[in-house]
Amino acid sequence: MSLTRLVLFAAAAWADDSGQCNTVELDFVVLEGEASHRAIEDDIRAALLEVGVTARARFLEKEEFNAAMVSGDYDLVFSETWGAPYDPHSYVASWTTPDEAHYSVLETHEPPLDPTTFASWVANVSSEVDPVERQETWTEILSAIHAAVLHLPLWGKRIPSVVGRRLEGYVSGPQQFDYPIASIRVAEGIKNVTIAPGAQTGLFQSVGRLDPHSYRPNEFFSNNWIYEGLVKYGPSGNIEASLATAWTTDIRDDGGETFRFTLREGVAFHDGSAFNCTAVELNFDHVFASPLRGPDWHGWYGLPGSLADWYCDGNDFVLETTEPYYPLLQELTYIRPMRILSPAAFVHGIYTSPETHNSCPASWGNVTGDDGSELTCVGTTAPLGTGPFRFVSRTVDDDDDDDVVLDREVVFASNPEYWGGEPDIEFVRVLYFETHAEVKEALLSGELDAVIGAGVLEPSDIQDLQYSEDFDVLHSEPTQNTVIIMNIDDIDIRKVVVHAVNKGPIIERELGGIEQPVSQLFPESAPYCDVDLVPKFDYDLEKALLLNCPDSQTTKKKNTKSKTATVYGILFAAAAVLAVVLVVAVCYMVRKERAGEPLFMPLTNPLIEDEVQLAPVKDPEAKDVGSTNSVEIEIFDGRDVNK
Ligand SMILES: *[C@@H]1O[C@H](CO)[C@@H](O)[C@H](O)[C@H]1NC(C)=O
Ligand SMILES: *[C@@H]1O[C@H](CO)[C@@H](O)[C@H](O)[C@H]1NC(C)=O
Ligand SMILES: *[C@@H]1O[C@H](CO)[C@@H](O)[C@H](O)[C@H]1NC(C)=O
Ligand SMILES: *[C@@H]1O[C@H](CO)[C@@H](O)[C@H](O)[C@H]1NC(C)=O
Repeated sequence: MSLTRLVLFAAAAWADDSGQCNTVELDFVVLEGEASHRAIEDDIRAALLEVGVTARARFLEKEEFNAAMVSGDYDLVFSETWGAPYDPHSYVASWTTPDEAHYSVLETHEPPLDPTTFASWVANVSSEVDPVERQETWTEILSAIHAAVLHLPLWGKRIPSVVGRRLEGYVSGPQQFDYPIASIRVAEGIKNVTIAPGAQTGLFQSVGRLDPHSYRPNEFFSNNWIYEGLVKYGPSGNIEASLATAWTTDIRDDGGETFRFTLREGVAFHDGSAFNCTAVELNFDHVFASPLRGPDWHGWYGLPGSLADWYCDGNDFVLETTEPYYPLLQELTYIRPMRILSPAAFVHGIYTSPETHNSCPASWGNVTGDDGSELTCVGTTAPLGTGPFRFVSRTVDDDDDDDVVLDREVVFASNPEYWGGEPDIEFVRVLYFETHAEVKEALLSGELDAVIGAGVLEPSDIQDLQYSEDFDVLHSEPTQNTVIIMNIDDIDIRKVVVHAVNKGPIIERELGGIEQPVSQLFPESAPYCDVDLVPKFDYDLEKALLLNCPDSQTTKKKNTKSKTATVYGILFAAAAVLAVVLVVAVCYMVRKERAGEPLFMPLTNPLIEDEVQLAPVKDPEAKDVGSTNSVEIEIFDGRDVNK
């Protein structure tokens, strides 16, 4: 706490007589090692203290943290929405399963926010066929969540990119790990480009198995370069053509919905074989075989459970659902587990059996469902897709003690047959760096052409590079919001928290100013979320005081002179504190002088210079947002999909 802040705080306490605030104590659970959360938890606690709310931070290791979240053993906890392309439906649908932090919050609410009614509400909007009605229902759901004040929205995460000036035309992707480098034109120099990409852990370590049908250690960004889906997620969640060029939807007589996809003609896989409906069907047969569709595997999202059937009709691919399910198209844009792999990369080619030789990773072993269904995972044989880049080679370094496989370098080549046009870049080399500082050094020395993604450079470095003539610094639209979930019974206290925290200065101070304050749960760029929710969850100290320190406020209201009185009070308190500081300082100096150790020595004294240099040292971790990677991932990990 700075001296100014101390003085202000003392003055506020003196003027307000915070004895008049209600005593509120909150349990603030923070994940140990989560650098950006760690950096701001004390700012939030200080802000709350000013309105009489004492929040005590409880730092927990991952396992204990998850246990506390799941059991509702917290008053305040950091969370993130799942971001594009998952918001809003996948994230809110997850609230109604008992292994999510919101479940215990909803349990204390009346309908429609209790878990059962809320689940039915979300299921209803997901099967709403009319887009206008659908938006209306989403507006109602988002308004109800907002009115219940379940969250303190903090900031929207924007994905930064720092791109050297010899590369032109890069535009940030609409989802966190979508790095569309195929659009880059190389304006000068060789067409080989080096990149340090933002990975799920921040700094890149490995591209993993590079198979499109499973999860970590695969990285989204590299799988997204190699593999494509039928459709793709565009700006604001618009569904765009990809391997399908067009589609129609029909409600059948039995109440289900039929999606019919026209497939792109003339597309080849990286092995040269033709892309056609047989390949799409083979991929669906493997990924959505029972029991892989179940909750322990791919059932964390709605699509697998909604499917009734799929087949080829000529070269059209047809999907049938048991009932209308509008998120199906949005979910087909997900980077995993359903992107199209070449039949040549299944162990027995196009005839590979989903039961005896499923494409799921061999490490998953034999998979058995509750219904007795069983299959054997054998993995895939090569990373062959239809995307703009194909895998060439990797330089693996696995002599580390702790079993961590590192890819020192991974090389991708442009796909000359790409249906979207051959990329201008010829080869992409993805490089491993141990520290943020090494990345910065390589960028400044010209070894690296671009840093694309979050958690690779320090936020303060990104900020500095904005003024460099050698680089373009870009930020995506906010892709997901960081929020604090409040598991507090009294809605007035929740409102106090929402209005006590001034986000802008905290972001400026602790996050290098690169994120943007938000006042509602979802980014407005998420589908159905461009809704103006009131009242705004913004900093409003007067409102917070009115709610938690009503006595001090009523006194003030009655006394028209109170504002002036407060100002005088603050000035007086400041003067008093300064006077005390001065007196103490003078006494100290006098004593030192008398003891023969005068404080003011010539500036050449090396001791003093050392001290001067030591003073501004900051905790380098405090600015590391590299580890803020998506909570979504952790949730999937928790569900065993990583075996
Ligand atoms: C969902 O739809 C069903 C059937 O129309 C209806 O009975 C139920 O009340 C709806 N749920 C909510 C929360 O609106
Ligand atoms: C570009 O990279 C490829 C693959 O690593 C390499 O074979 C080629 O020599 C490089 N070209 C130049 C001009 O450095
Ligand atoms: C798709 O291509 C494969 C291999 O080239 C071929 O065996 C198959 O018959 C084709 N399917 C369709 C529907 O044309
Ligand atoms: C997996 O299932 C196959 C086929 O039923 C069987 O041959 C194999 O022994 C099983 N493997 C394990 C590890 O249980």
